[in-house]
Amino acid sequence: MFETLTKAPADKILALMGEFAADPRKEKIDLGVGVYKDEAGITPIMTSVAKAEQRMNASAKTKTYVGISGNKGFNAAVRELVFADTVPAGRTRIMQAPGGTGALAVLMELLYRAKPGATLWLSNPTWPNHAPMAKHAGFKVDSYPYFDTKTRAVDFPAMLAALDKLGPNDIVLLHGCCHNPTGANLTNEQWDQVAASFKRTGAFPLIDLAYLGFGDGLEADGYGTRAVVNAVPESVVAFSGSKNFGLYRERVGAAIVVARDEAQADIANSQLMNIARVTYSQPPDHGAEIIRTILEDKDLRAEWETELATMRNRMIRLREKLSEAIKAKSNSADFDFIAAHRGMFSLLGLPGEAVENLKTGSGVYMIGDSRINVAGIPEDRVGDLADAILATIK
Ligand SMILES: Cc1ncc(COP(=O)(O)O)c(C=O)c1O
Repeated sequence: MFETLTKAPADKILALMGEFAADPRKEKIDLGVGVYKDEAGITPIMTSVAKAEQRMNASAKTKTYVGISGNKGFNAAVRELVFADTVPAGRTRIMQAPGGTGALAVLMELLYRAKPGATLWLSNPTWPNHAPMAKHAGFKVDSYPYFDTKTRAVDFPAMLAALDKLGPNDIVLLHGCCHNPTGANLTNEQWDQVAASFKRTGAFPLIDLAYLGFGDGLEADGYGTRAVVNAVPESVVAFSGSKNFGLYRERVGAAIVVARDEAQADIANSQLMNIARVTYSQPPDHGAEIIRTILEDKDLRAEWETELATMRNRMIRLREKLSEAIKAKSNSADFDFIAAHRGMFSLLGLPGEAVENLKTGSGVYMIGDSRINVAGIPEDRVGDLADAILATIK
């Protein structure tokens, strides 16, 4: 059987994790893997999550199937978290999915069933899993300009010009906030222009919302998603609870469909459920029940929001410290962009050779495209990191 196969490409991030683990140097710094880390360098269980789990343990009565659509309370709470009352509930359907990746996978399959001839457009660059997933779903894949490698900001005129050329046979994947890998994001005014472009062209928005609350706050980070969804008759959103609830291994996310009307919403939802049924059948409940418990309880929700703000503010502080340290040591504003970026990542724009030198010379690990996870920066080593970065670009 398997003699007909060749090895699938290895995941570069996982390979880098292995290299980091095997590196004996004490002073090594891991800016590679995309998980939040606290000042102790660990990915903590949030206190609100631990309290929700305690309550669940005390009251759980069954482990029977949760149903194809998943945890209904979770679905309602996530719909409220993402849209509040900005989008008519009647046109919205939501199905729990195994993580943001699972949500993207079922949504891409839904869109492929609806329009197999469409092209799926990705930002250049984007999360490395987007293109393989879109191809796996069957789509032709193309990319629109996004990151300006000189300013390390969004090349908005180029992005908008590309979007304006699209039409109803095009699906555009947008990062709802906290762009991965660049860290460069649209302003609210730019989101409004993007929304107006979709309205003009009839292109279809697929919004990947994996970091809600990691940028500037829950409301601020949701602005773009709400602006686009409100401007167009139909759209989809893939929500992840991995980062903002720290529930990576519980695999909790949601596939959200906003359709033209209730009848089409029901049809799309039945197709989503059919896709789930023939792949994993039903989603895992534990993470969803944690999120439901937190979001439905006033006190737990307030505690979670405070914890989320602590994580977010830590990342912003680390951004400011690193860009200030580089500025002080180099007398140049070239790395000010690190402080302007939001979310967990920044694309430094270093050549591959510099990335390799940082690893071998200084034990600083980052992804090959020079993406850093700012949450991985040890606060007391910001100066060392600034020195190491500056040494490689001399
Ligand atoms: C842009 C983006 N989308 C989706 C995901 C999926 O996250 P998960 O499947 O872990 O919820 C990630 C995770 O790294 C991501 O960075």
